[in-house]
Amino acid sequence: MLHPRAFKVTVVWTLLLLFLGSVVHATESSLACPDWPTCFGTMVPEMSGGVFWEHLHRLVAGGLVLMFSLATWLVHKEVRDRPWILKACWAGIALLLVQSAFGGLTVIYRLPDLVSTTHLALAFGFLGLATYLAAATTSRVEPHGSDADAGIRLWAWAAAGLVFAQSVLGGLVRHMDAGMACPDAPLCLGQVVPPLINAPIITHFAHRVLALVVVLAVLGLVVRVWRGHASAPLKHWAAAAGILVLVQVALGVASVLSVLAVAPVSLHTLVAAGLLASLVYLSGLTSPTPLGEPKAMAATAA
Ligand code: HEM
Ligand code: HEM
Repeated sequence: MLHPRAFKVTVVWTLLLLFLGSVVHATESSLACPDWPTCFGTMVPEMSGGVFWEHLHRLVAGGLVLMFSLATWLVHKEVRDRPWILKACWAGIALLLVQSAFGGLTVIYRLPDLVSTTHLALAFGFLGLATYLAAATTSRVEPHGSDADAGIRLWAWAAAGLVFAQSVLGGLVRHMDAGMACPDAPLCLGQVVPPLINAPIITHFAHRVLALVVVLAVLGLVVRVWRGHASAPLKHWAAAAGILVLVQVALGVASVLSVLAVAPVSLHTLVAAGLLASLVYLSGLTSPTPLGEPKAMAATAA
């Protein structure tokens, strides 16, 4: 079966694209190509300076549209009994096209905060969808009864939702230029609660408070999965999420202490995306029926 692999490749591709997008911003290359969809009127500009990052981001984005379309084509015949998978694929293609238009708008309107933040939110939304499809089309060989724990599933979705909200808030921090509104860490302006006197400080501080909630939610999930009778893949994905959330906090602190150096801020975007993907994948694996199999087959296996 080819399609689970095609969706998994899509997920990895999306992670790479998100990382590249973040590098585009961090290296101040966002307006290196002044036009869109061409770059200096051509699809093959000289790949140097900021144009290298910005145009590479566009090319990899084009590749993602092709990759995801291929995954949809591979899946379409085999999921006639699960039409929701095909509908989700069409939604994914539509999302990618809207996302590409938003990428163009960021350039044409010269990076308005809301458009740039929406570009980030749509990227994370697409990543979530592609990851769920990767989990949905993966058949499981082990009995899934023990994984069908509604508590774990709910917890994993809640944690994924929190990570998504925190990431969009992080996008706002970035695009409002509030990254250095708290120039120290772990304290903010030398205090546990800084004077909340302007929008950048409030937004930055809210990002740190929500980080604490995210850490507690993810570590709570790890404890719940490891204490129960969950299968090995579930335990592995929970452990991955636990490690990623701690690395993410360290990268947040490093971003501040390095005065927003390219490496920590770009890795901060990548690890946020990896964390979201691991939680969504885990949620997909806790589905009561194996999502990749028709209901009849699932009943036979159980
Ligand atoms: C041809 C289509 C695209 C164009 C022209 C484009 C353009 C851009 C530009 C100019 C930036 C920098 C924005 C800024 O500094 O505020 C950017 C960042 C980014 N792009 Fe794209 N993009 C495209 C497609 C995509 C796609 C398909 C995805 C993901 C599914 C994506 C994900 C991102 C991410 C995650 C960032 C970083 C946003 C941030 O740092 O907040 N882009 N893109
Ligand atoms: C644990 C949960 C966290 C998640 C999921 C998260 C996620 C994100 C994301 C997705 C962005 C936007 C990056 C972009 O637009 O490309 C961001 C920005 C940022 N985050 Fe976090 N973050 C977390 C914790 C923290 C912590 C604990 C700190 C600091 C102590 C921090 C500091 C920052 C800063 C300074 C920015 C702005 C970077 C810039 O201006 O380039 N984050 N965060």
